[in-house]
Amino acid sequence: MQLAKRVQQLPPYLFVGISRAIAEKRAKGIDVISFGIGDPDIPTPDPVLDALEKGAHKPANHRYPESEGLPEFRKAVCDFYMRRFGVKLDPATEAINLIGAKEGIGHAALCFIDPGDTAIVPDPAYPVYNIGTMFAGGITHYVPLKEKNGFLMDFADIPTDVAKRAKVLWLNYPNNPTGAVANLEFFEEAVRYCKEFDLYLLHDACYTEVTYEGYVAPSALQAKGAMDICMEFHSLSKTANMTGWRVGMAVGNSAMVNALMRVKSNIDSGLSQAIQEMGIAAINLPQRWLDGNNAIYRRRRDRVVRGLRDIGLDAVAPKAGLYIWTKTPPGYTSADFARVLLDEKDIVVTPGRGYGPAGEGYVRLSLTTPDERIEEGFRRLKGWIVPPPPIK
Ligand SMILES: Cc1ncc(COP(=O)(O)O)c(C=O)c1O
Repeated sequence: MQLAKRVQQLPPYLFVGISRAIAEKRAKGIDVISFGIGDPDIPTPDPVLDALEKGAHKPANHRYPESEGLPEFRKAVCDFYMRRFGVKLDPATEAINLIGAKEGIGHAALCFIDPGDTAIVPDPAYPVYNIGTMFAGGITHYVPLKEKNGFLMDFADIPTDVAKRAKVLWLNYPNNPTGAVANLEFFEEAVRYCKEFDLYLLHDACYTEVTYEGYVAPSALQAKGAMDICMEFHSLSKTANMTGWRVGMAVGNSAMVNALMRVKSNIDSGLSQAIQEMGIAAINLPQRWLDGNNAIYRRRRDRVVRGLRDIGLDAVAPKAGLYIWTKTPPGYTSADFARVLLDEKDIVVTPGRGYGPAGEGYVRLSLTTPDERIEEGFRRLKGWIVPPPPIK
């Protein structure tokens, strides 16, 4: 017996060595501080939990949901797009709900990629764009995001023959892991580029609401002509501290949204309606709640950046998102630096290589670590002289 190639081909879990080391340390009672995964430590707000309580008692919610989501959920999403981005969407055809954005992102390739087709994917990136492509039998063409370009994709870096044969282009701004942001002109350029090469544009907009100092992130759908070729993914995971509840949405071009709905309706039975009702409450949280939540992350961002600079790292404060992306000290690979932080200081960071080849030479720190743990982490790092890199 043999497992399917798509499973055999899954990249080795890069963090396996680090995960083992963390588990060993914790088993010995060592206090390990994690800046690893981006999973908000702050609880889901009360109005959202209240909606679950109410929704749980409705018998209609005890039955199978529709794959595309409750009409009320889709309307709340479209109302949000209008008030937030000025983008008019039809709830009946241009919005569906997802079991978290990850589910929709993973399944999207099944809508657009046939075996042997190419997907253009940023590097570094959230790994699911590549894995979804691989599961659909497609080939990923990575485009390095360069620091000198503010980690924006430079479309001139894509060879013309690749653009001609590719089917989709993935983007993600505000960006995980680099913290980069894109303006509307960038999305206009992306739409022009995709139209020129007959590409579907898939934009992951999961972090548009986690922003600092008045920065307002655009939606790709605001770009002229985007509705002809673009589908955008959104999530309440980070916006409203809801990673555990799995509420996401896909919006945009109706044929693209319909294709995803058809794929989903054949392999999942939608998101629990009571949880969709939580989603509606989350979408309608007042702006002052979002501002308060983002103020916590901003304080942490500044603390982490200051702490990293104190040990000689060149950290930059992002305008949005939950991550600090910083270069490793000279001579260190991302895995070696993550390892030395764990070995010497019991601190976990994510090696940049896990986000693609161009992530090498960086590590990522997540701001979803409680303030007192951040303080303790940087207390440990105060005055630390980074040892020379291992000799290979
Ligand atoms: C860029 C990006 N897209 C999508 C997701 C997944 O979001 P969700 O929790 O809605 O599945 C994440 C989660 O970390 C992410 O960083």
